[in-house]
Amino acid sequence: MQKRQETRQALRRLALAALALGLPLTLNAPAFAEAKPFKIGFILPMTGQSASTGRQEEAAIKLYMAQNGSTVAGRKIEVIVKDDGGVADQTRRIAQELVVNDKVDVLAGFGLTPLALATAPIATQSKTPMVVTAAATSIITEQSPYIVRTSFTLPQVSIGIAEWAAKNKIRKVVTLVTDYGPGIDAEKFFKSQFQLNGGQIVAEIRSPLRSPDFAPFLQKVRDAQPDALFVFLPSGQGAAFMKQFAERGLDKAGIKLIATGDVLDDDQLNDMGDVALGVVNSHHYSAAHPSALNKKFVTDFQAANKFRPNFMAVAAYDGMRVIYKALEATKGQGGGEALLGAMKGQIFESPRGQVLIDAQTRDIVQDVYIRKVERKDGQLWNVEFDVQKSVKDPGKAK
Ligand code: DHB
Repeated sequence: MQKRQETRQALRRLALAALALGLPLTLNAPAFAEAKPFKIGFILPMTGQSASTGRQEEAAIKLYMAQNGSTVAGRKIEVIVKDDGGVADQTRRIAQELVVNDKVDVLAGFGLTPLALATAPIATQSKTPMVVTAAATSIITEQSPYIVRTSFTLPQVSIGIAEWAAKNKIRKVVTLVTDYGPGIDAEKFFKSQFQLNGGQIVAEIRSPLRSPDFAPFLQKVRDAQPDALFVFLPSGQGAAFMKQFAERGLDKAGIKLIATGDVLDDDQLNDMGDVALGVVNSHHYSAAHPSALNKKFVTDFQAANKFRPNFMAVAAYDGMRVIYKALEATKGQGGGEALLGAMKGQIFESPRGQVLIDAQTRDIVQDVYIRKVERKDGQLWNVEFDVQKSVKDPGKAK
C-alpha cells in the first residue's frame, strides 16, 4: 500500500516536471514501463550429424555478447537457442513457436540448406528478419525478402579453387560433392570455371548427406586417374573423408586433393594429420587469417572454449553484429521492416576481412582466399597465399 502511494506521488512529481518542461505526457505510457527485451531466436543443430555447427555458433554468440554487452539502445538482448537436430520439420515447428509464442524480433541460425528453406515462408508471413549464419546454397536469399545472410555461398568459394587448379597444371578433375543444394552449386560453379580455363571434368560423383561411406566413391576416383579430385562436403564430414582418402592410398597414387574450405574445416583440421598437409583449398575464413582483429577473435574464442573457431563461428559472430547494429540504428524500436532496412548495406571489418551486406541481394560480399594447409608450431592451419577481393555471389541471376 505504502509503496503504491509512493509510486503515485513519484509519478505526480514527474508529471508536473514534464508539464513544466512542456513535454508530452501520458501517465500509463511506455515512458514509465521497462523496455521489452529484444529477442533473437537462434535455431541450430546442437545434436546430430551437424552438431559441430551448433557448438561453434553458440560459442561465437556468447563471445560476441561478452565483448559487446547485452543491452543495445536500452533494450536487453535475449538470445534463445533451440536445437533442431538438423531436421527440417523440427526447424519449421521451432520457428513457428519462436514467432508465435516467444514473439522473437529476429530468427537466426540454420545449419543446413533444407532448414533455411523450411523457415523462409515463416519469415515472410510474419515479417520477421531471418539472419542465415550457416546454410550456403545460393538460392536461399531469394526465398524470402526477409532473409539476410552472413555466411557465404558455394558458388562464391568454388570459383577461386577452379582458377587456381587450371593455372597450376591440373588438367583432368573428378568432382565429389554432397548430393544436395550446396554440393550441386559447388559442382556446377567449379566445373564451369575450370572448363572456361581449359580444364576437363572426367567424372562427377555425388555422396549422400546422411552418414556417407566414401570408400566406393574413392575407388571410382582411383579408377578414373584424374590429376586432381575436387571435393565439397558440409562442415563436420571432412575428417572422416580425409581418413578414407589416406586409407585408400589416393594421396600416394598421385591424385591431388583440392577442395572448398568446408572440407579442411578449422573445427577438425588439427586432427586430420599429415594427409591434409599441402592441400590447397578456397574459402572466406581461416582461423590463421593474419589480421589484428582475427588474432583477437581467435585468442578470445580459444580462451573461452577448448576448440578453435571455424567459418560457422565467424558467421554467427558477424550475424550478431548485424543484428546489434540494426537495433541500434532503429534506436531500440526494432520492427521487421526497419531492422531489415538497417541490415542492408552494412559494411564492416569481420575477423575474416572486410564484408558488405549487399543491399539488393541481402547476401554477403567478401574476400575469398586461396589457402594451403601447413604445420606451424605443431598445429595445422589453412595459410592464405592468394585472395580474390570483394566476391559477390556468382550464383545470383544477373
Ligand atoms: C551447408 C552446410 C555446411 O555445413 C557447409 O559447410 C556448407 C553448406 C548447407 O547446408 O548449406
